Amino acid sequence: MMQIEKQHIIDWIERCAKTYQENQVYLDGLDSDIGDGDHGFNMSRGFSAAAKDLETLHKQSISTILKNTGLSLRMYLGGASGIFYSTFFFCASQSAGSRTHLSLAQLFDALKHGAEGIVTRGKAQKGDKTMCDVWLPALEVAKSQAETALSTDELLDQILKVAQEAAISTVDMQAKKGRAQQHGKESIGYQDPGATSTLLMIEALITTLKNKLD
Ligand SMILES: Nc1ncnc2c1ncn2[C@@H]1O[C@H](COP(=O)(O)OP(=O)(O)OP(=O)(O)O)[C@@H](O)[C@H]1O
Ligand SMILES: [Mg+2]
Repeated sequence: MMQIEKQHIIDWIERCAKTYQENQVYLDGLDSDIGDGDHGFNMSRGFSAAAKDLETLHKQSISTILKNTGLSLRMYLGGASGIFYSTFFFCASQSAGSRTHLSLAQLFDALKHGAEGIVTRGKAQKGDKTMCDVWLPALEVAKSQAETALSTDELLDQILKVAQEAAISTVDMQAKKGRAQQHGKESIGYQDPGATSTLLMIEALITTLKNKLD
């Protein structure tokens, strides 16, 4: 089984900054349908700040890198998702603790703590059309499949597939949380922007884990 070094975490955050820059217009478009149209801009600004911070953080521990990512997101991401994504990284940081490296199971455990932090903070339930509708099933499959005979590659493919399907499944949901709930039944038929940015974050992670690091 692979071992997660802090370079993986750094690579992941940098990939997030890149993917949110590339998908800024796409995410703003989704947020225009059922929100205020700023989600792509917010994600791009938040993760660019987090990635820039890494220049001074590369000597720090995994936990410190995760915590500082949370701090950057809290300062620069903004909006509802700024609070939730910063909470995610703070809780993941706590779970990583003083470890200098993580097993894949420990990494997914840390991310699960992160997702649970979002639920504690925002009280979203399954089917409320939020980012939790992607985080929870993706990390559930990561946990339940981690101890089976799947190869690492098969496991990562599974997680990605579940996350993709979960993001699409938000199309049919009615928003019960955040700004989008004002649209009532009219929110049905649109993919949730936060669920989509979470999918992009998971895609970036899977790419990081599948690539050999320099
Ligand atoms: N209670 C919640 N729990 C988890 N995720 C939530 C919750 N409320 C909203 N979200 C997520 O936040 C996303 C919207 O993020 P965005 O940054 O655009 O916030 P916003 O509604 O514009 O914030 P604000 O109104 O504070 O400016 C939604 O698509 C949804 O996935
Ligand atoms: Mg918005």
